[in-house]
Amino acid sequence: MAQQQIELKRGLNGVYFDTTESSDVMPEGRLIYRGYDIHDLASKSTFEEVVYLMMHGALPTRWQLADFDAALKAARKLPPEVIDIIVKVKGAHPMDVLRTAISALSAFDGETETMGKDANIRKGIRLTAQTASIVAAHHRIRQGKPMLEPDPSLSHAGNFLYMLLGEKPDKDTAELMDRDFIVHLDHSSNASSFAARVTASTLADLHGCVVSGIATLKGPLHGGAAEGVMKMALEIGDVSNVESYLAKKHANRERIMGFGHRVYKAEDPRARHLRDGSALLAQKKGQPKWFQILSKVEEQMRPYAQRGICVNVDFWAGSVYYLLGIPEDLFIPIFAVARVPGYVVQVIEQQGRNVLIRPLVQYVGPHDQQYVPIDQRG
Ligand code: ACO
Repeated sequence: MAQQQIELKRGLNGVYFDTTESSDVMPEGRLIYRGYDIHDLASKSTFEEVVYLMMHGALPTRWQLADFDAALKAARKLPPEVIDIIVKVKGAHPMDVLRTAISALSAFDGETETMGKDANIRKGIRLTAQTASIVAAHHRIRQGKPMLEPDPSLSHAGNFLYMLLGEKPDKDTAELMDRDFIVHLDHSSNASSFAARVTASTLADLHGCVVSGIATLKGPLHGGAAEGVMKMALEIGDVSNVESYLAKKHANRERIMGFGHRVYKAEDPRARHLRDGSALLAQKKGQPKWFQILSKVEEQMRPYAQRGICVNVDFWAGSVYYLLGIPEDLFIPIFAVARVPGYVVQVIEQQGRNVLIRPLVQYVGPHDQQYVPIDQRG
């Protein structure tokens, strides 16, 4: 049968499927959240303030922020049953543990089946706090270390580092993690937020939507790139090896992790905040090597900018986490800690004026196969 002439948009590249008021990713290298430039938010705001902005649509007053912060802090503890599950699956990849634990949380959240914006904000606040607690608890459990009680005197980012690493971070380090969370919070119709929206469009519950997002974030072409970048830096080992390492990669037509983006055709605006953070940490920890190696990779990749392949956020994120003493398999979960409220915002937006997301795919297989009973098949 002759194939119907259909213009395929593989990977939905260039396809607009709806409108949004949450964030805008611009090819020239600009990112805005609800109209505010990411550079203003990253340098002047806190993660808690930006989550409020994203969920409610406006920056909070002092008292609104205090209430919001109190609700986040009140949700930091995990149900004991979920901790038991984390203990049982502790050997799995931390993203698989996170996905499983978030799914399990639906059994212990009194509002799982309650739909609507207000319930989703309340659940979203809890999920934002709980995601950080799951990642930290799992890491402690798998190391055989005691889990730590959340510290209400610490910010969301500071408390996460404390519960993960067992040491209260200094002001600069807590602020760096806070900035990292801000720049990772939302990113228009990225693959994992789109997955969360597809789930939301069936009017499924928020926990299920967040599980979809987390499952999608794990892949190396999305959240997994930061892990790949640090592996690359470790493989390179010394700044003198950068040129030969890249030459081999280019000869094998292999991709360099931390470069390229579906939308940005200039430098990813989030990268600069983590580059600065990486430089600061390298100096503070007296470990300039990784910053030097990655700076050289960035310099050597400059000619690729002509083809729109520029540095992305993941390139510098990995070195920040590494210098903080965070193991590589936690890089994507940290991305998830920041991105979960982004999923919540997009789910609220999707369900606020829902339409089922159900695209078409062109069938190119055979049409008239003759059915052969099982005992007659050769
Ligand atoms: N290194 C070398 N070449 C690259 C890279 C890269 N990192 N990225 C793209 N290219 C080349 C491709 O080989 C292709 O070349 P060709 O036309 O000669 O075959 C061309 O650029 C277009 O690449 P596509 O894969 O078609 O572009 P797409 O928009 O689908 O890719 C993606 C975007 C998946 C992010 C890609 O750039 C990539 O694989 N990057 C490495 C992984 C990475 O860093 N991911 C993180 C993204 S940011 C985030 O999720 C937070």
